[in-house]
Amino acid sequence: MSTHARIAVLASGGGSNLQALIDRLNADPQAPARVELVVGSRAGIGAVQRAERAGIPAMALDARTLAPEAFCAGLAEALQSHGIDLIVLAGWLQLVPAEVVRRFQGRMINVHPALLPAFGGRGMYGMRVHRAVLESGVRVTGATVHFVDEAYDQGAVIAQWPVPVLPGDTPESLAARVLAVEHRILPLAVEALAREPAVPVWIQGEPLAFDLVSAPAPADASIRRTLRLAPGAAGAPGDPRRD
Ligand code: GRF
Repeated sequence: MSTHARIAVLASGGGSNLQALIDRLNADPQAPARVELVVGSRAGIGAVQRAERAGIPAMALDARTLAPEAFCAGLAEALQSHGIDLIVLAGWLQLVPAEVVRRFQGRMINVHPALLPAFGGRGMYGMRVHRAVLESGVRVTGATVHFVDEAYDQGAVIAQWPVPVLPGDTPESLAARVLAVEHRILPLAVEALAREPAVPVWIQGEPLAFDLVSAPAPADASIRRTLRLAPGAAGAPGDPRRD
């Protein structure tokens, strides 16, 4: 019997989140979880290549060429034969069959590149998320790890981390900063769940330092008053320069 939680990672892209999991978990014999299976949505994608380089069993299941029943049966069989305890969706763009979602309730998680419930739901993936964040004008976005249920991006939140939106950000520059945060919170969330299954956990860490000086001042003073500033920051409560 294995002493660690056995993880399957489902990925459709380059697999940098998969790599973050491999680097943190598979290299450490004491880790409470290990990646034991990688399922790619196409053969030859980056995630599958990363698995092969790390010596982790990998397979491709392409929902575009397989009938839904064959896709579902192939996934269920792979999860069963590798004794999978926890599924991590890391950039997985296909629908997970409802049967698998039900069977892995509380044991399937997803990483999303925004602070859910904002900027989530159908059609909100990849660069679309970051474009929508920039178009909305919000000053803070971030990354979320959450349980997967049968609705898109609506399962209970496990961990979130903020990322400031900076002046001059493009969808690409924002995506890169958010991705770096995903690489930190996803392995932490997996470790926490492996130790304490099905219990939402909060990951604590240092607060991010916001550079308030370089952010453009909102034109409207009433908006400015609603901003929550850190104690000691220019304009924060106690600062004599405050309006
Ligand atoms: C990440 O931004 C993740 O949040 C989203 O898809 C992207 C996957 O990136 N669901 P990678 O394949 O792990 O590099």
